[in-house]
Amino acid sequence: MRNELVQKYFAEIRQLKKDKGAVILSHYYMPPELQILEKDGGVANFIGDSLGLSVEASRVEAANIIFCGVSFMAETAKILNPQKHVLIPDKEAGCSLASSITSTDVQQLKLRYPGVPVIAYVNTFAETKAECDICCTSRNAVAIANSFETDTIIFVPDVFMGQNLQAKIESETGKKIILWHGYCEVHEQFSNISLSTMKQMYPDAEMLLHWEVPRETVDESMQSRKGVLGSTNDILKYVGNSTSKRFILASECDLGASLRGMYPDREFITPCIKCPYMKKINLANTMAALQSIGSDAEALYEILLPPEILAKAYLPIKRMLDFV
Ligand code: 13P
Ligand code: SF4
Repeated sequence: MRNELVQKYFAEIRQLKKDKGAVILSHYYMPPELQILEKDGGVANFIGDSLGLSVEASRVEAANIIFCGVSFMAETAKILNPQKHVLIPDKEAGCSLASSITSTDVQQLKLRYPGVPVIAYVNTFAETKAECDICCTSRNAVAIANSFETDTIIFVPDVFMGQNLQAKIESETGKKIILWHGYCEVHEQFSNISLSTMKQMYPDAEMLLHWEVPRETVDESMQSRKGVLGSTNDILKYVGNSTSKRFILASECDLGASLRGMYPDREFITPCIKCPYMKKINLANTMAALQSIGSDAEALYEILLPPEILAKAYLPIKRMLDFV
């Protein structure tokens, strides 16, 4: 998109936010133009990872929240703010992990493993969360898993993140994790082949790997190379504390936009894999969602959940927020 057009959208969106009493919360996987804060000339009021966005959603004062992320995240914002209007610019912005498990699947797991606590990755739909004991994000998963006294826990739905967690938790506490077989269709694409070629091309680069990357890729990539396996936030922090000038990023491609903005003197190399769900959100539909506030068209964008799901899913999310 031409810069002139981008600036035009920015100006109109900023005006609409004022007129409609709205804020924009934006995930690090959004297209780069939605990763610029209003104070820096863009439109976002807050940019964050999924935990940061949940925390921010619990503090918002404006009556309307435009959620530039995927629908399970917007649902979380709604559950934390049932009295507010939460809008997502495209309701089709789903997630392969969230779609991999239903509330019935969790009920069946609980019947099969009675008394075993169920931890749901926040990348699940509200109905699924409502059946779980606690939620977690990639940032607080280890602390939450370790907080249970049982020797077994159930973790749903990301099998790769679960295997990575298992490796860490088993060595620390001996706890066993029962896993589900969902996966993130973005992070599962980071293979040994793509990363080992890059490691060979950039022998001085450190590795930045998200928890959702497959276990065998993690094992091989971290061999004889410095780096971090963690959440989006861990990745951002790691770069800040490292003296390396070059990094290989194994996470969603547009996280690179925020990394480059925060650390302009460093180089980030990534096999550029984009999340098709996150990329459904853009400046045009963000503006359309704002324009719809107060009109019949709002129904196209507003997140609405049945009262019983709002109430039941609140508990596991609230418990997660004690681990910030
Ligand atoms: P985090 O924001 O928790 O790192 O999650 C990454 C992700 O895949 C979100 O969809
Ligand atoms: Fe879901 Fe993966 Fe996209 Fe995140 S990056 S929304 S986990 S498909």
